[in-house]
Amino acid sequence: MSKRIIITGGAGFIGSHVVRLFVTKYPEYTIINLDALTYAGNLENLKDIENHPNYIFEKANIVDAEAVKAVFDKYKPDGVIHLAAESHVDRSITSPLDFVYTNVIGTVNLLNAAKELWKKDYSGKRFHHVSTDEVYGALGETGFFTEATKYDPHSPYSASKASSDHFVYAYSDTYGLPVVLTNCSNNYGPNHFPEKLIPLMIHNIIHNKPLPVYGDGKYTRDWLYVIDHARAIDQVFHQGTVGENYNVGGFNEWKNIDLVKLLCKQMDEKLERPAGTSEQLITFVKDRPGHDLRYAIDASKINKELGWAPSVTFEEGLSKTIDWYLENKEWLDHVTSGAYQAYYEQQYAH
Ligand code: NAD
Ligand code: TYD
Repeated sequence: MSKRIIITGGAGFIGSHVVRLFVTKYPEYTIINLDALTYAGNLENLKDIENHPNYIFEKANIVDAEAVKAVFDKYKPDGVIHLAAESHVDRSITSPLDFVYTNVIGTVNLLNAAKELWKKDYSGKRFHHVSTDEVYGALGETGFFTEATKYDPHSPYSASKASSDHFVYAYSDTYGLPVVLTNCSNNYGPNHFPEKLIPLMIHNIIHNKPLPVYGDGKYTRDWLYVIDHARAIDQVFHQGTVGENYNVGGFNEWKNIDLVKLLCKQMDEKLERPAGTSEQLITFVKDRPGHDLRYAIDASKINKELGWAPSVTFEEGLSKTIDWYLENKEWLDHVTSGAYQAYYEQQYAH
């Protein structure tokens, strides 16, 4: 069945993988990538599919309600998959208001636009909100986040995402908007902006720069290969129960310091450097304020109800990720020099 789907944040890390999956897997759909192209938006991420006949790019800022409405009026979507966000915890500590504008107000603008367009007939419509496990707060040494875990966000980033989740539930409860949500753990993979742990470390190892590990490095995250997250979004968007959320994670916990050491080992092998070379770059630095100790997802609901499971092991995923960065040095150079931001002007602006 043909569908028109607006994917917000499609020029970003996870969004670009979701756009690619939908454009190639569902040629009968029209995919509209709505993105403001902030520092995190990079259309070079979508070079390989930008000329597909079922792909359209619309530059728009979700904070601007009129701009959002104009895109909804133009395309009359049946579905929305909402990934656009300010996504980096460290930036949220220095600029929290940016997170309120995009993550909270931007989400409400999208909910309003969908409600107004669909209110006469909700059948066949769906608003999928992509969220994070960070809304649940921090775990101690044991236990997992389930869908029933109470929200307890700590950083301005997670507080803004928790707020946006609450608005999504409120639109479902108040107006009957057909929503689904996914709360996913930390992603890694190709196209990841080198401000986040894994791509930053890969970039710094390539350039022999210090590897800044916050605090004692004992903080724990549950890592998932980005393509497995995109597969989960596909399944929940199509088969998830309306009004519900699904936790998505890899059952793959790593303490930061152990992960960085594994990365160093794999990078030394791939760069043919003597074993132990990259580890010498590890530098313990001042801790992040309010640093959450541990995240771990119980992904059994999505596994039991929809049959989703990660498709790659962490060692395989990490190896593929490093290979991608080594084979795409130009992407990394463009991102670190800022040259990627000219791509839109060359390809799209008239
Ligand atoms: P990202 O920072 O790589 O990309 C965000 C995208 O949103 C960019 O293309 C940017 O241009 C766009 N954007 C930002 N503000 C916008 C605005 N006001 N209007 C329109 N577009 C705007 O983010 P990501 O890591 O790909 O995360 C995508 C989504 O997944 C986010 O909602 C995030 O909270 C969620 N998430 C991320 C992770 C992770 O590990 N990265 C884990 C779980 C959930
Ligand atoms: P990050 O990739 O920023 O994701 P999040 O904060 O959303 O989990 O950080 C992952 C973990 O790595 C987190 O515990 C903070 C830590 N970290 C460092 O130790 N050094 C760094 O340079 C960065 C960016 C993160």
